[in-house]
Amino acid sequence: MTPSIALIGLTKVYEAAGVRAVDGIDLEVGQGELFGLLGPNGAGKTTIVGMCTTRVLPTGGRVEVDGVDVVADPAGVRRRIGVVTQYNTLDRACTVAENIYYHCRFFGMSKASGRRRTDGLLEQFRLADRAEAMPDELSGGMAQRLQVARAIAHHPQVLFLDEPTAGLDPQSRIALWDIVADLRREGITVLLTTHYMEEAEQLCERVAIIDQGRILVCDTPASLVKGLNAGRVVLLALDSRDAGLLTRLGAIEGVTEVQPTDDGGVRLLAATANGRLLPQVVEAAQPNGVRDLAINDPSLETVFISLTGRDLRE
Ligand SMILES: Nc1ncnc2c1ncn2[C@@H]1O[C@H](COP(=O)(O)OP(=O)(O)OP(=O)(O)O)[C@@H](O)[C@H]1O
Ligand SMILES: [Mg+2]
Repeated sequence: MTPSIALIGLTKVYEAAGVRAVDGIDLEVGQGELFGLLGPNGAGKTTIVGMCTTRVLPTGGRVEVDGVDVVADPAGVRRRIGVVTQYNTLDRACTVAENIYYHCRFFGMSKASGRRRTDGLLEQFRLADRAEAMPDELSGGMAQRLQVARAIAHHPQVLFLDEPTAGLDPQSRIALWDIVADLRREGITVLLTTHYMEEAEQLCERVAIIDQGRILVCDTPASLVKGLNAGRVVLLALDSRDAGLLTRLGAIEGVTEVQPTDDGGVRLLAATANGRLLPQVVEAAQPNGVRDLAINDPSLETVFISLTGRDLRE
């Protein structure tokens, strides 16, 4: 089966700025898959989406959407895709309903079917009572729902969502997750970018973790976390930190990684086998003054830190 989205050696170099924003990415997203690109600020997420959606020209490699080359046939690709960009691109001079309706008309629907589709989407996205409002009168969550509704109005097979929940309050974020999950059930392929690891973990079937324009790992969230070989993450807040401490912690049975954190503490990854882990950690860290200790389950965030030594949210 033809993949829904295929990136082949995809590269983008901004010569003038001397930036290799995307550095040889190979990736296939299957039909109907909900796929996540997870990475920190500047990782290259928007540039990748830009190249997939005909907005940015690759400097190397290529992208195919449903087997159609993005550079060779941009119009053919635009018919097949819906795009929600990182920034609000609603037409502020048109009402909520008109934003959807004119999109339908632009993609060749008749007046009658454009109106039907608009009404249907307003219902589906719980915007019917705001149909005559102006975009500026909407909350952030509503505006984002409207952007998604408009993006799928012409029945695209593939939907690109660039940081769809950035800046939304937690409730609106969860409401948008529900909407995306529903689209997935309709069979639309969804590629979303995010720097929220909870979002990638909860929503996506597969995730590629990207940093500095490259894919570091790509798998299901569960497999990525399992691959850490760590049952527990221990966070230590300390009065001081030195090389001796890191060595003592690293020597404890079951400890697989010892990472200094930005706030002067230490993060440990440990297998669950050692039943005396915590007393041993406290004893090893005592000379450095243990101020606090927290135990967490490993997550995609842990995977990212383990791969890069950095925090996902800086
Ligand atoms: N038009 C441009 N000219 C020069 N450099 C650019 C341009 N667009 C992006 N970049 C650079 O390319 C890199 C990747 O940027 P991009 O916007 O794709 O990252 P991102 O993962 O979407 O980040 P964010 O999470 O902040 O949205 C960054 O270093 C950025 O500064
Ligand atoms: Mg971006």
